[in-house]
Amino acid sequence: MTTITIRNNTRLMAEIDRIAEVAGYLWTKGWAERNGGNISVNVSSFLTDDERELPSLCPSVPLAEEVTELCGHVFYVTGTGKRMRYVAKDPFANGSLIRIAADGKSYDIIAEQAIAPTSELPSHLLMHNFVRRSGRDNRVVLHTHPTDLIGMTHCKPFLNSEVLTRTLWSMIPECRIIVPKGVGIVPYEIPGTLALAHATIEQLAHHDVVFWEKHGILAVGEDVIECFDAIDTLSKSAQIYFNARMAGFEPEGMTDEQLDGLVEPFGLEIYG
Ligand code: 13P
Ligand code: ZN
Repeated sequence: MTTITIRNNTRLMAEIDRIAEVAGYLWTKGWAERNGGNISVNVSSFLTDDERELPSLCPSVPLAEEVTELCGHVFYVTGTGKRMRYVAKDPFANGSLIRIAADGKSYDIIAEQAIAPTSELPSHLLMHNFVRRSGRDNRVVLHTHPTDLIGMTHCKPFLNSEVLTRTLWSMIPECRIIVPKGVGIVPYEIPGTLALAHATIEQLAHHDVVFWEKHGILAVGEDVIECFDAIDTLSKSAQIYFNARMAGFEPEGMTDEQLDGLVEPFGLEIYG
């Protein structure tokens, strides 16, 4: 019997390198205090059949809610309590590959070390399950704590998807283009709970980026770099907004006409 070493899989390792790259950005951006934030990526398509069948490193862990769209799928998931600055340096010492059981009711850690997944796994898995059921090719869920975007959720008028989306879009044309579905908002819930997970997937029907009130941001996407870019662009808009307010004026923002003028040239969806 030959021993499988996942590090010999160059396609998988290229994807892991991209996750590590983004983990480094989260830290340098100041969005990842201590263990703040987490990442999960469906890596099933990069694995051989034998790699997908790797033995479990510890007893199976039951899931509070079954994820029937994810049976047999394998995810790289950052570990609970692990720091993004260390994920960047050593993703397999700060995260692991988990395989969802054939009945979708539990998971096994299969590589490389038995690192327990993020406490936000309920949200991540329900999100992956939801996007697969909707036929979307969103392999990535990225959660992070951007100071400026969280700051906006401490202001009641912004706890409204339309108001927040309109404000952020109107700061810079790229925001309308890069986050075309706008942003959803989930009222405050205890981190790591199923209640938070359920409230989040409701927002995914309309948006790829969701704000958690007074906590953080989540983005789903096909690619980990693109998820980061969407949050980074929103953060740029928030900075323009706050800088204007700190300079003593309410930013004018792009007009509805200017925003609508982007729809046709960039082939954007009409929002709302
Ligand atoms: P974990 O360390 O469990 O991933 O938690 C970090 C976090 O941001 C919780 O929302
Ligand atoms: Zn968090």
